[in-house]
Amino acid sequence: MVDISSDRSKIPALVDALDRKLTYLRISLTDKCNFRCFYCYGSAQEIERTAKLSLMSSTEIVDLIKVFGSLGVNKVRLTGGEPLLNPSVVDIVRNISEIPGIKQIGLTTNGFLLKEKLSELIKAGLNRLNVSLDSLEREKFCEVTGVDGLPQVLEGLRAARDSGAFQRVKVNTVVMRGVNDSEVGNLAKWSLENGFELRFIEYMPTRNTLNHAKKHISEADIRSKIDLELQPDIGNLTSAGPARTYKVDGYPGRIGFISALSQKFCESCNRLRLKADGRLVGCLFRDNSVDLISMLRSGMSLDDLAYFVRNLVAKPEFKDEADFTESGFRPEMKTIGG
Ligand code: 5AD
Ligand code: SF4
Repeated sequence: MVDISSDRSKIPALVDALDRKLTYLRISLTDKCNFRCFYCYGSAQEIERTAKLSLMSSTEIVDLIKVFGSLGVNKVRLTGGEPLLNPSVVDIVRNISEIPGIKQIGLTTNGFLLKEKLSELIKAGLNRLNVSLDSLEREKFCEVTGVDGLPQVLEGLRAARDSGAFQRVKVNTVVMRGVNDSEVGNLAKWSLENGFELRFIEYMPTRNTLNHAKKHISEADIRSKIDLELQPDIGNLTSAGPARTYKVDGYPGRIGFISALSQKFCESCNRLRLKADGRLVGCLFRDNSVDLISMLRSGMSLDDLAYFVRNLVAKPEFKDEADFTESGFRPEMKTIGG
């Protein structure tokens, strides 16, 4: 049995059936969002249905992270929905920063509320930041997200960059044919000039992505849309997890690619996910989550939970490789958090 408070060097790591060491946990703090991105949110009925989810409390979230910290997880990322809609987000960050072993605390946000929460989050210990941004054109932004919020998101981004608290502020852009593919060159230039690291994300087939095949664009096609003068210098490749990022001489920023379909990265996957309703997910594209929060609520100790999780993740039926085929499972991004 694992003793949470004991010598960390004796604590076994989380290793899955494919021998991948799992050191990264993503946690969805809420399935609510102040945006309505068409590819994520779906119909009004869908929103009504998920509004009834019973969410984890802040104390429960922090307890579960303690369990993972005791098992060698050193990086957590708070996602949503929109994580800044969780009223306890700053306290959660502060409490996580006190958990032994957790070195990196990240947030993935749509950026709308970022500027007002930024300094508190940094003070609490936030040290990684990703902001989702699919368009730099105000009307297009509004079409995609349902909210005329581009100015607020850009202000949040600038404030985060200028704070100096993050080595690099990352921007996530999902590229969709006929939606924002005409902006790829612009987005690349903007990121390079303004010192951000913008990652072009291949559109994945998730729960509400109608017409996915028509909208999906491969990384090769995305690259061909970037101006020749900005073509990334392949020699400057850095690879941290699924993103492959590039510098271009003369610019402070970077650009990168996350291509789950054309450049599948399952073999280096080191992550686990905790859904907003407290279910642990091994792989985005497998329907096999486990209700961890009910185990905590039933009075199971953190040590026993750690023991359970270690055995669970070693099972091939829990954590395997993504299945993107027609018959594959389609995850709901706002409860899992991407
Ligand atoms: N394909 C790729 N990325 C997606 N996201 C949400 N749905 C999809 C999808 N179908 C992204 C969001 C955000 C991150 C959390 O996941 O745009 O940047
Ligand atoms: Fe909200 Fe992100 Fe989903 Fe858009 S993609 S609706 S910002 S959770």
